[in-house]
Amino acid sequence: MACAVLQPAAAKDGQTILNAKCMMCHTPEGNDALSRISHQRKTPEGWLMSIARMQIMYGLKIEDDDRQTLVKFLSDKQGLAPSETEGLRYAFERRLNTVEQFDEPINQTCARCHSGARTALQRRTLKEWEHLIDFHLGRWPSLEYQAMSRDRDWYGLAHNEVAPLLAERYPLDAKAWSDWQQSKPEAETLVGKWSFAGHMPSKGEVAGTMQVTGGEGDQFKLIVDGEYADGTPFKGQGSAVLYSGYEWRGSVDIGGVAMRQVFAASKGELQGRMFETEHDERGLDFVAAQQGVARVLAVQPGYLKAGSEAQVTIIGSALEGKPLFGPGIQVLEVVAQTSERVTVKVRASADAMAGTQAVSVGAIKGGSLAVYRDISEVRVVPALSIARVGDNGGSTPKVQGRFDAEAWSKDASGQPYRIGIFPATWSVEPFDERAAEDEDVKYAGIMQMDGVFLPGDAGPNPARKMSTNNAGNLKVIAQVDDGGASHKGEGQLIVTVQRWNNPPLP
Ligand code: HEC
Ligand code: HEC
Repeated sequence: MACAVLQPAAAKDGQTILNAKCMMCHTPEGNDALSRISHQRKTPEGWLMSIARMQIMYGLKIEDDDRQTLVKFLSDKQGLAPSETEGLRYAFERRLNTVEQFDEPINQTCARCHSGARTALQRRTLKEWEHLIDFHLGRWPSLEYQAMSRDRDWYGLAHNEVAPLLAERYPLDAKAWSDWQQSKPEAETLVGKWSFAGHMPSKGEVAGTMQVTGGEGDQFKLIVDGEYADGTPFKGQGSAVLYSGYEWRGSVDIGGVAMRQVFAASKGELQGRMFETEHDERGLDFVAAQQGVARVLAVQPGYLKAGSEAQVTIIGSALEGKPLFGPGIQVLEVVAQTSERVTVKVRASADAMAGTQAVSVGAIKGGSLAVYRDISEVRVVPALSIARVGDNGGSTPKVQGRFDAEAWSKDASGQPYRIGIFPATWSVEPFDERAAEDEDVKYAGIMQMDGVFLPGDAGPNPARKMSTNNAGNLKVIAQVDDGGASHKGEGQLIVTVQRWNNPPLP
């Protein structure tokens, strides 16, 4: 122990820290293995949560630097392969309005307290899944009476049915992981210039470049230089770490606001979400291609009305050649062209076919432009979302609701297709009679012009019945105007209390 403490942080490797910090409770099993720890695989966030739990529950003392080194060491040695995180990345991307789909036994026994993804992002032996269930019941014995478990034998169900199911579905040993460990690329391959495109709900499209340097020890420095479609700068710098050969986690300061990057790196592409560190509901979908990798990443804006003219920008990387649009769309002028963006004036003829049309630059395919005649439907995105009261002297900030109005149309065969995000006029109404009676609209918060909902203050409100807090159940209404025709879309927003336990995996 003393030896570990005296060495400078950089010189300490993961195994040394593991032995020094964990061995007093976790039994050595030979070959550098420790009981429990060596029989699980998980994401960087999963490892961080386990170690933080050791600190909170068992008084483990560990410096932040050492914890960081350990999370990296364990994620590289016992992480998940890219294919093992597929469809579950919303959890660490902090897309907290995701409505999950798991099967019944997992829903009933596990996914009523936390996300199902927290479970599905781990790999264990049967014995380890059983230990996890035992740990839950030992720690929270009342769980047999809560979370709608009172009418069933929670432990019997979890132990006899759920554990074997999890062991079969999420086993410790998997070809996906051993293959990935053999084939994962070197971190240095990510160094260079990247072109990116993104979309921030209620703010709009963004594009630019990201310069990545370093790579040694899977650590990077980066400079972001971009702009929103409305001209707002999106610039800053920061650093990033690569875990398990593809899990990119960055911290960037964008115009004085701390943001996190949670991306998956694969073959010259970075994809994921970038969000404010203090407000993870404020975030953008992000996709980037490395210099030299020919890709069309986005067409901004991605729609055009038949019979109209517009300026659109094709964002990509290594773009070379003529911009090509579908039938019925004429390129009037190439306004500007670089290898990262091609700005063109286009015109859709009045009889252009309605639907999603392919857009390419020379031989580089992958873009799309929705051509439409009229809007058939407006959808509020997200359709169901949660905002939270906060501030007012408390430790927890408000969690905003952020909405987009997505327009849809129908093609010649009657198939619905997405046109894109439209500007809208926003309002809220009571969701039901209860909400009307409790005056939720008055107390729960304010819907702003830009589709951002600011929830009310935390704490009891003496003006409300029984001094209840500023919770509410609201209908979110988007009114979209298109060439004089008005279209309405509806979603639901539940304004609720603070999230007190807010670990990296929901
Ligand atoms: C003071 C004792 C103590 C120390 C020190 C300690 N642990 Fe633990 N750990 C436990 C106990 C007890 C359990 C089993 C009960 C549980 O899961 O909470 C456990 C379980 C675990 C598990 C399994 C959790 C699960 O989800 O099933 C992991 C992983 C783990 N520890 C990692 C670590 C790491 C890594 C360290 C060192 C940085 C560490 N522990 C240090 C006491 C400790
Ligand atoms: C009564 C509520 C409750 C139920 C039911 C529940 N969990 Fe948990 N679970 C928790 C809490 C609380 C934690 C600790 C969170 C933290 O560390 O912040 C946790 C932690 C976890 C972790 C992370 C542990 C680690 O150290 O890696 C996993 C994985 C997990 N649960 C899976 C499950 C599975 C599988 C089930 C169903 C068999 C389940 N949970 C049922 C409340 C629950």
